[in-house]
Amino acid sequence: MKKLFLLLLTCTALHSYADDVEAGRAKAETACALCHGRIGVATLPNAPNLAGQQAIYINEQLRNYRSGKRQNEVMNMIAKQLTDSEIAQISAWFGSIKVTVEAP
Ligand code: HEC
Repeated sequence: MKKLFLLLLTCTALHSYADDVEAGRAKAETACALCHGRIGVATLPNAPNLAGQQAIYINEQLRNYRSGKRQNEVMNMIAKQLTDSEIAQISAWFGSIKVTVEAP
């Protein structure tokens, strides 16, 4: 019984993370891709890459833009339209993108 409960708990956790990533992908496609690229590699020279960035960091920055603690005209406006759960989903999506790096 205990094992079954743990299994269910694990499945629920995994399921919701995958759901977050998918929902985040869809939202980022419409709200962020113009500047940060479809898979988080920036298309604007002054926008940072978000692919593979720690979800916890992205989450914190979006909250800071939303509250005004971090100032940037464009990002302040964009973050104000995001709810807590949208921030979590979008952060999960960008954080889930695999990146490889290579030293020159
Ligand atoms: C119109 C262009 C534009 C759009 C659209 C846009 N961004 Fe940005 N974003 C920027 C720019 C420019 C910066 C750099 C701002 C700064 O210097 O603080 C930035 C910075 C960020 C940062 C900080 C990254 C870091 O390394 O600290 C995050 C996180 C971010 N954007 C997430 C998003 C998300 C999520 C969306 C979609 C909901 C989005 N942005 C939409 C232009 C954009």
